[in-house]
Amino acid sequence: MWRSPGDDEFKRLVQTFPKEKSWTASNFYFYQGFWCPSIVLRAVISFQKHFQACDSDIIVSTFPKCGTTWLKALTFSTLYRNQFAWDENPLLTFGPHQPVRFLECDIYLNNPFPDLQNVCVYQPRLLSTHLPYASLPTSIKDSNSKIVFICRNPLDMFISLWSFLYKLGDESLEPLSVDEAFDKFYHGIYAYGPFFDHVLGYWKASQENPNKILFLKYEDLKEDINSHLKNLAIFLGVPFTDDEKKQGVVEEIAKICSFENLKEVEVNKKGVHISGIPHTGFFRKGKVGDWSNYLTPFMVERLEKLIQEKMDSSGLSFNLSSKTSKDITSA
Ligand code: A3P
Repeated sequence: MWRSPGDDEFKRLVQTFPKEKSWTASNFYFYQGFWCPSIVLRAVISFQKHFQACDSDIIVSTFPKCGTTWLKALTFSTLYRNQFAWDENPLLTFGPHQPVRFLECDIYLNNPFPDLQNVCVYQPRLLSTHLPYASLPTSIKDSNSKIVFICRNPLDMFISLWSFLYKLGDESLEPLSVDEAFDKFYHGIYAYGPFFDHVLGYWKASQENPNKILFLKYEDLKEDINSHLKNLAIFLGVPFTDDEKKQGVVEEIAKICSFENLKEVEVNKKGVHISGIPHTGFFRKGKVGDWSNYLTPFMVERLEKLIQEKMDSSGLSFNLSSKTSKDITSA
């Protein structure tokens, strides 16, 4: 696989990075302060080196298992709503991941110089990444491109990730138990982790530049999707008109992108993502607070303390449950 001189250079570089076994068969490399899955490391470097952002680009940026699929669907449907008929929304044919492709785990995966004109059918370009803010290509940070970011309370994110990997795991390997996974999770060892560094990177950047980064939380969208859709449209520069609001366009987009609707779309029931992951893997329960069905009181206590410690005085808080609205807030 690594035969050209560039490949040797890459191989040498990789050997200098700390390494950990991932939750499945592959490895993570500690690269620029985050645990990068070995399978995408090379693509991450290509993306960082070669991607040239346009001022009009929109980047959907997320921590894995925090609502990427949902945010892709919402952003796509809002941004391009006047470019196709309702019943021809490409989400219904291709699912959310094909029309809004990942940069490092798809577009740059096997090609350091992809033709982005062909990748983005609609304009402005809408692309996606899991990279931390600090590791984004400079052209994204320096241009007028915009970033829509979503995160989620780490307890639900952990259970979502564990369930996802458990289901997709290599059948020849014993899947990680919740206890084993918890230990790795607690120490920040999972794809793109530690979660807190990732989330705080975007949080701080969004506080400094709210016109560039829209910071969203999964739980807030669950609570009031219509208001967040309206804000999203304003942020993207395509606010809903009074006529659209009267015609129920906001509610229509929320409905098309809802968990219940997307989960039942044929492509999401039977299709496979370019990475080989069945689309069903992206739709599990879509609930807030499902962690309470899996985590022991001891695990919850440890995570609550960790959240408090990591969030410190950031001003960022997480809603852990839709029923009790229990908040873990910073000081
Ligand atoms: P659960 O595992 O808790 O059900 P990602 O898209 O970042 O991989 O995140 C996956 C999580 O988002 C899963 O959470 C999945 O069920 C949920 N999800 C997927 N589509 C959704 C939608 N349209 N609305 C709400 N949640 C959704």
